[in-house]
Amino acid sequence: MRFHFSLNGISFNSPLLVASGTFGFGDEVTDLIDINQLGGLVTKSITLHPREGNPPPRIAETPAGMLNSIGLANPGVDSFIGEILPRLKALKTPVFVNIAGSTLQEYVEVLDKLENTGAAVAGYEINISCPNVKQGGMAFGIDPHTTERLTGSLRKQTDKCLIMKLSPNVTHIEEIAAAAEAGGADALSAINTVVGMSIDVENRTPRLHTVTGGLSGAAIKPIALAQVYKISQAVGIPLIGLGGISNHKDVIEFILAGADLVQIGTINFKQPAAAVRIRGELEVWCERNNIANLHDLKGEMITP
Ligand SMILES: Cc1cc2nc3c(=O)[nH]c(=O)nc-3n(C[C@H](O)[C@H](O)[C@H](O)COP(=O)(O)O)c2cc1C
Repeated sequence: MRFHFSLNGISFNSPLLVASGTFGFGDEVTDLIDINQLGGLVTKSITLHPREGNPPPRIAETPAGMLNSIGLANPGVDSFIGEILPRLKALKTPVFVNIAGSTLQEYVEVLDKLENTGAAVAGYEINISCPNVKQGGMAFGIDPHTTERLTGSLRKQTDKCLIMKLSPNVTHIEEIAAAAEAGGADALSAINTVVGMSIDVENRTPRLHTVTGGLSGAAIKPIALAQVYKISQAVGIPLIGLGGISNHKDVIEFILAGADLVQIGTINFKQPAAAVRIRGELEVWCERNNIANLHDLKGEMITP
């Protein structure tokens, strides 16, 4: 399509990646979508040990999005390497392994194991922004010093593309972004989910077992866009925007606000082929507007 952008030697001919936790490991949808048409696939978060996640209910619908408290359910890095990674290697689309941890050492160990497989993954997205776990996760992403220290430790271990995924649940996201850049990140992605909750008034119980969870989908798009804009003003490294994207105009908004690439998340649950549909919509829009490379619109919002 009319899109060209390179990041760490990876060349993207589509700006559309699928977001962590919203596309599994790509294997549940192979009948519905040609994954190689995606700009990239981000796996769900992988941790050092297997995790069952939080007790149910851990999904609740809201008028303009969904609340989740999955709590990083995943098979753990050893099973991932043994059973899932070999299948992912067959894909032509760039694969980014999303990593989460409770301690700095856990992140380091997971990355180390993945590096030792010599796996042909394009890079790593580091989840320092999960609001649904008691320990770690977001704790790393709300403090600039911790963010810089973690990024620096991971940077020493890999030459592959290192993306730090930021949380919107902070006062100044641009400070966290600058810290990740200082630590040596190649790129940033923003945003993870926004802390939210919902109560069933008939029986007075929270709709999530964990009471609060992470809000995603259309409701958070304006928040995400503002955060991406703020980050783009503060750092020089590439930026992947996400949060509530469901059509081509949403994608263009994120690019105009300063994103280089975007990720498609919650909409995948309703429409597993959303990324392919949006790619078609973008192609038509670029043709109609005589845009040879959509990436040229990065940061080109005309401010009043
Ligand atoms: C059910 C669900 C599971 C998620 N799991 C992860 C995860 O494992 N790791 C992660 O970094 N983000 C996870 N996310 C966050 C998404 O990748 C994304 O940052 C967020 O949902 C905002 O984008 P969206 O509004 O397009 O969904 C999850 C989101 C949802 C809805």
